[in-house]
Amino acid sequence: MNLIMKMLAAPATVLALWAVSAQAATNDEIAKRLEPVGQVCVQGQECKGMEVAVAAGGGGGAKSPDDVIAKHCNACHGTGLLGAPKIGDTAAWKDRADHQGGLDGLLAKAITGLNAMPPKGTCADCSDAELKGAIEKMSGLK
Ligand code: HEC
Repeated sequence: MNLIMKMLAAPATVLALWAVSAQAATNDEIAKRLEPVGQVCVQGQECKGMEVAVAAGGGGGAKSPDDVIAKHCNACHGTGLLGAPKIGDTAAWKDRADHQGGLDGLLAKAITGLNAMPPKGTCADCSDAELKGAIEKMSGLK
């Protein structure tokens, strides 16, 4: 081997070693970055920090009439959109209640939907009692 080849070979070896260790460091970093993904919480498991999300997602206590109205009914009943009886317009609600055989009749229509009124007023996870509470509050009827 002549001198020039030796001079070229030495740095090449160093370079090769450097490349290997650089790769290792990179893999380490990748593994670290992937860690949080590996700790994703699977439904049904007990996972730290997930309790808040579950509590906020419902399944706990009953929704208040105000909550249901604000989140689901107000969009239409607040302004009378699409001919919806307005919140607080007790006369309009009473007229409807008379046609449906009272508040429970209104509740039945609210559950099934009526023309432009979507089933359960878009509150798919509302119980009948929660829907009734919202109707009572919006109509002022008991
Ligand atoms: C997308 C708009 C929309 C949303 C959201 C909505 N409603 Fe309505 N609702 C209507 C319309 C429109 C009517 C009138 C339907 C008709 O008489 O043709 C109506 C009518 C009603 C009636 C009277 C039914 C009857 O028999 O006359 C009740 C009760 C009612 N809504 C309850 C609710 C409740 C409770 C919510 C929220 C959980 C809700 N609505 C959300 C549009 C909506």
